[in-house]
Amino acid sequence: MLADSRAHWADRDVLDIGIGGGRTTAVLAPDARRYVGIDFSISMIAAAKASLPGLDLRRADARRMPMFRDGAFDFVLFSFNGLDSVNDASRAVIMAEVTRVLKPGGAFVFSGHNLDWTGKGGFLADMFRVKISSSPLKTAKAIGRVGVRIRNWLRNQKAAVRTDRYAVMTDPGNDFASPHYYAGAAETRRQVEAAGLELVNVYDGEGKITADAAERASSTLYYLTRKPL
Ligand SMILES: C[S@@+](CC[C@H](N)C(=O)[O-])C[C@H]1O[C@@H](n2cnc3c(N)ncnc32)[C@H](O)[C@@H]1O
Repeated sequence: MLADSRAHWADRDVLDIGIGGGRTTAVLAPDARRYVGIDFSISMIAAAKASLPGLDLRRADARRMPMFRDGAFDFVLFSFNGLDSVNDASRAVIMAEVTRVLKPGGAFVFSGHNLDWTGKGGFLADMFRVKISSSPLKTAKAIGRVGVRIRNWLRNQKAAVRTDRYAVMTDPGNDFASPHYYAGAAETRRQVEAAGLELVNVYDGEGKITADAAERASSTLYYLTRKPL
């Protein structure tokens, strides 16, 4: 996806939101004209700065980016479903902030958990899945993790939301430790357009353009959007 969108970021001014440890920084920064990476986690920014010294990496919250003027960037990225870690209201605020800092014609790329994915039905089975090993200790640990998953899932039920537009669910990633926002492609298009962006393409999990507004085969969808000229 980043390789496909190269024309949007190579030799351009790039804002990379939610850089975590700097995985996308290493790809984008060398070929961008200007690169700024932000993350609201102090420890993540510290780790990224330590492994990628000399770059413009800052601790900042995408909900409030007054340090960037209107139209400052050609390309904004929020990768690896990072946008799904905030709630519905914050998601709209972030999309509006991204629209503001983009130049007209600039692109915003992000990914999101797909509420229409049929595989969600397997979450319960994942909770109780145990890998039996020839080592009794490893098997005992694997059984112990079922308890961890159940505890995490129960703890996160107070964060669970289900509306006709989206859901906040705890999925098997990280042993059910983190609630994530899920929306389908049709709802995401609505959100993108409400923020003043155009949806250019939706890509499925294999990086193919999907025209299906209720794409069901991919757990994650990738969105290429654009600020109108
Ligand atoms: C799933 S990680 C992705 C890390 C990295 N982009 C990658 O692809 O490996 C999402 C990151 O987004 C950051 N994040 C979440 N909400 C944010 C916000 N409102 N502003 C800035 N960063 C945020 C988190 O701290 C986390 O490091």
